[in-house]
Amino acid sequence: MNVREHIAFIRGAHSCPGAPLARTEGRISLNRILDRMKDIRVSDTHHGKPGSRSYTYEPTFIMRGLNELHIEFNAL
Ligand code: HEM
Repeated sequence: MNVREHIAFIRGAHSCPGAPLARTEGRISLNRILDRMKDIRVSDTHHGKPGSRSYTYEPTFIMRGLNELHIEFNAL
């Protein structure tokens, strides 16, 4: 998937003028959250051991969207 082609903020004359602000807020928020976590890993309990992981996806051909992703981490 090419993330530059997504349409979350729409295209054309009425595209979202708040997109740069929303992107900046999103980036800063995620970084603030990630700054407080270490050893982030996929949950073996929910998705199986490495090499035999299993995930479920939204039933659509348009996107490959995970239904859920369980992670574990240690707090900093
Ligand atoms: C994750 C955050 C955001 C998403 C996903 C989003 C998405 C969208 C979308 C899809 C449209 C087009 C709606 C339509 O065509 O009917 C839109 C329009 C608009 N958005 Fe956002 N937006 C976000 C944040 C913001 C922010 C932070 C602002 C202002 C600070 C903003 C201001 C506007 C305005 C004024 C329009 C109307 C543009 C027009 O009709 O010409 N949005 N937005």
